[in-house]
Amino acid sequence: MPELKIIRNYTERENSHTLESYVSSGGYKALDKALKLQPEEIIETIKRSGLRGRGGAGFPTGIKWGFIPRDSKKPVYLCCNADESEPGSFKDREIMEQDPHQMLEGIAIACYAIGSHKAYIYIRGEMPYAAKIITEAINEAYKKAYLGENIYNSGFDIDIVLFKGAGAYICGEETALLESIEGKNGEPRPKPPFPAQIGLFGCPTIINNVETLAFVPHIINNGAEWFLEIGQPKNTGTKIYGLSGKVNKPGLYELPLGIPIGQLIEEYGGGIPNGRKIKAMSPGGSSSAILDVSEIYIPMDFDSLAEVGSMLGTAGVTVMDDETCMVRVAQNLAHFYRDESCGQCVQCREGTWWLEMMLSKIEAGNGSMEYIDILLDACSQMRGTTICALADGCAMPIESIITKFRDEFEQHITSGKCPFDNKYMGSWG
Ligand SMILES: Cc1cc2nc3c(=O)[nH]c(=O)nc-3n(C[C@H](O)[C@H](O)[C@H](O)COP(=O)(O)O)c2cc1C
Ligand code: SF4
Repeated sequence: MPELKIIRNYTERENSHTLESYVSSGGYKALDKALKLQPEEIIETIKRSGLRGRGGAGFPTGIKWGFIPRDSKKPVYLCCNADESEPGSFKDREIMEQDPHQMLEGIAIACYAIGSHKAYIYIRGEMPYAAKIITEAINEAYKKAYLGENIYNSGFDIDIVLFKGAGAYICGEETALLESIEGKNGEPRPKPPFPAQIGLFGCPTIINNVETLAFVPHIINNGAEWFLEIGQPKNTGTKIYGLSGKVNKPGLYELPLGIPIGQLIEEYGGGIPNGRKIKAMSPGGSSSAILDVSEIYIPMDFDSLAEVGSMLGTAGVTVMDDETCMVRVAQNLAHFYRDESCGQCVQCREGTWWLEMMLSKIEAGNGSMEYIDILLDACSQMRGTTICALADGCAMPIESIITKFRDEFEQHITSGKCPFDNKYMGSWG
């Protein structure tokens, strides 16, 4: 199966980050086309295309846009979520660094569709290079009147503001992101109300991921039916899969939704280095439940992964080989989530701390057998009980690791030490 390169068409262009390069490949034609349509027609096209959000949850984009009240007396905002801090995910950064205008054009079309004149791009603080490229791209687009007042003589104005975060994972959660832009601590808000009703500064707001928005110009140019034909029913289009960990060719690959995870690893990732075997795979960023080698056939799409209790998430696939200590992986994950918890919910604040503490003891050979079920109990109490999904994102992979690799936990406890010499876990070590 060849790579499709719909979004990643920039790999075939020189100086792809510049406006000149983007326009020479047909860039900003979709915006011109969109401005001649009614906003409802654009929303309808995006709905028909089946585009689902690429930020993690897979919510249908057109349906989300349709939640914005059309008669709002308040301003409407669009926020482009460029916080990308999920371990194992690095697709949005590349879009921003290599082809920022694709995202800007998507933002402009989305703004027109939802009746917004102001968009914020919330970028992760640790991405100074992407921030520089985006700043240049915004300036170029204003100069050539693709942004600003009365674009394409349509009477429609669009302002885009780049907002730099300070590097907290939780600020990628959509309501924490809004709080952060408002100048407050990045703490998620209880939902409802959803941001489409009460969002940024109390106004109706849509939050979309970078990759989601980068698809929009392509769908407007080529039509909903074109997009529907790629991928799987209800899981349409391509996805930028990020491959890392124990693979020969880590990197980004744009392929249709639904490619089996094993094919991605073997055919595109070139298999596992040093003749080792696959032990486990995290299919969708660190928050997704781990798959074991018996699940290598599972299609990489929203619904297939949900059916086996995991999720597509960001499609950042991390591969672990047979030398990897799964207790250490779980400990490392607990450490990350404990560090990143905003602390509002007891189950998350205390739960992540307890998970890390017990997993560290087991890894060091100081655990006891009863810890295993206490860990599973703690995970189940963290799931679905908190303000945001960070606690679930910690509990789900750890629960799956304990369930699928329980023997490794028992081995650590009975032998009083880690049975693996190799302490390096690839990108999660
Ligand atoms: C802890 C946490 C972190 C998140 N981080 C990101 C992120 O960095 N980027 C992102 O697009 N979505 C992130 N999300 C998901 C967003 O809340 C939201 O669902 C997404 O931006 C919506 O965009 P989409 O509909 O285009 O997918 C995160 C969610 C949680 C719970
Ligand atoms: S689940 Fe964790 S990160 Fe999310 S609001 Fe609660 S304490 Fe904060």
